[in-house]
Amino acid sequence: MPPHLTVVEHPLIQHKLTIMRQKDTSTASFRQLLREISQLLAYEITRDLPMTQRTIDTPMQEMEAPVLAGKKLALISILRAGNGLLDGVLELIPSARVGFVGLYRDEETLQPVQYYFKVPDSLQDRRVIAVDPMLATGNSSAAAIDLLKEAGATDIRFLCLLAAPEGVAKMKEAHPDVPIVTAALDSRLNEKGYIVPGLGDAGDRMFGTK
Ligand code: URA
Repeated sequence: MPPHLTVVEHPLIQHKLTIMRQKDTSTASFRQLLREISQLLAYEITRDLPMTQRTIDTPMQEMEAPVLAGKKLALISILRAGNGLLDGVLELIPSARVGFVGLYRDEETLQPVQYYFKVPDSLQDRRVIAVDPMLATGNSSAAAIDLLKEAGATDIRFLCLLAAPEGVAKMKEAHPDVPIVTAALDSRLNEKGYIVPGLGDAGDRMFGTK
């Protein structure tokens, strides 16, 4: 089992993330960079996927070659910002099954409210990767993982772009069995539940909304 938190300190990821953080980075660049970083993070989060051997024929001879074992992966996007991470990960793992969990954050209580839930079948037999760029309070993420476990998932990973210590602590308390992979661990949350220094509202920045 990987550690509870992995911060991927790869130069390409860190460089791209710095551009994403800048407030004058355009929507188009933000989206493109998120796609690129998500692929690099996907590489890390799939590092320990179970493998099996298959007999194949090369033009030279028969051989036993490694292939991914078991059912297709399930990628779960936590709406709406999760879709920005999902696109890039799907490019790397095109055969993955895809699900969506719709949660919005009540701005007063900062608590998650569910409005959509649609996930692939047989979650209990799949490696599940839940994606959401911002692990802030951790309330939405923990609630999304609760729903995935209720739907049968037992082998879950969480992929995000930025994490706050508060969110990591919340996830560790609620779901110590769910390893987290992120590009950076920032300092703290502000009084509105935004990650500081962060990059602002990830959904607004990737979709060009306010
Ligand atoms: N969600 C965001 O989009 N940004 C934050 O900083 C926190 C939660």
